[in-house]
Amino acid sequence: MSSAGISAATHRAAQKRSATGFGILKRGTALLRLLPPNFAHKSAVTAIKLGLVPKTSGADDSVLAIKVWDTEFSNPIGMSAGFDKNAETVDGIIDLGFGFAEAGTVTPVPQAGNPKPNLFRLTEDQALINRLGFPSEGVEVFAINLKKRRHGATGIVGINIGINTGTADAAGDIETCLVQLAQFASYITINVSCPNTPGLCAWQAGDKLAEMVDGAKTTLARVSGERTPPLLVKIGPDLDEDGLAAVADVAVTVGIDGLIACNTSSERPANLRNASAQETGGLSGPPIRQQATKVLSNLFEMTGGKVPLIGCGGISTADDAYERIRAGASLLQLYTALIYGGPRLVTEIKSGLAARLRADGYSKLSEAVGANHR
Ligand SMILES: Cc1cc2nc3c(=O)[nH]c(=O)nc-3n(C[C@H](O)[C@H](O)[C@H](O)COP(=O)(O)O)c2cc1C
Repeated sequence: MSSAGISAATHRAAQKRSATGFGILKRGTALLRLLPPNFAHKSAVTAIKLGLVPKTSGADDSVLAIKVWDTEFSNPIGMSAGFDKNAETVDGIIDLGFGFAEAGTVTPVPQAGNPKPNLFRLTEDQALINRLGFPSEGVEVFAINLKKRRHGATGIVGINIGINTGTADAAGDIETCLVQLAQFASYITINVSCPNTPGLCAWQAGDKLAEMVDGAKTTLARVSGERTPPLLVKIGPDLDEDGLAAVADVAVTVGIDGLIACNTSSERPANLRNASAQETGGLSGPPIRQQATKVLSNLFEMTGGKVPLIGCGGISTADDAYERIRAGASLLQLYTALIYGGPRLVTEIKSGLAARLRADGYSKLSEAVGANHR
């Protein structure tokens, strides 16, 4: 049998194994949606941590591989921040088929977040609204959890850092997180875009962002050993063109290694159907897809394609994923789609994306990044 034949047989066997797993996953996902949202989230994290969710098997299609910074991703689909806030199960997440996991947002000091209810399912819209407000067990527990990672684990882990609610020293909070956590990070993301932490989004403004990034880079250079992890900034979808241009300018001139676009939105499209649509908080899922794609596309133009972008916001199908890559994303992240579709979605999106790339004549993902701009 040729090597291609062997790999096709291996692939079929893996598909068969994961098809069985998918049945369990489908039922598990439906069950979780019957639980109150916060409890369902906690249960999902625990189930993954305990290995109760079937792993995917088989190597990723080679067309999906991409090198960003100094890192080789076997596929571009990442779990976005907010699911594993305390880095309890990063390897379990990667076992679901993700190319990488972003843990956090972690704050320096433990904090409870906002009072419940603070998470709403907008089922008719396949969306969520959350105003969790960074519940976090703090940097120390986060570091302990990462130290406990499976021996020899090589999965790519981004660490998303933030500030404590009501802090008097935002830059100091960021410094604390970097000092404690940089050693564990494949990359670091500063989250300046959560709409639920008062004053946080003001750090997206050009001069403030430049100050924060400059300080963070100095700290990272001081605390990093042989390798300084790339520094990313996560922005929101509600910035206007001037706001975006300011972010792009800081990225290019001060030197941000990557931008994640986008976080959740404070805006409410008029066509939301669920009764909770006007709850305060950040909206995620398909209703923010177009806006998030536009922001990403604008950032690609404004940075001249020089700054790697992670596309996030409303990605729930292979078409969405491909559209975001063509708009300029080198990597992708999702969260809300997983709540409605379950982890089998990761495999579906990966195989659909690989098929679309090949159908358009691309032999590797990087060739399609930003294709809409050429
Ligand atoms: C319940 C929930 C909690 C979240 N918590 C965080 C967080 O702590 N830090 C962060 O950067 N983004 C957080 N996000 C935003 C997601 O990472 C993502 O940027 C956003 O939901 C858009 O992607 P999606 O439409 O695929 O969900 C959270 C989202 C949800 C739904």
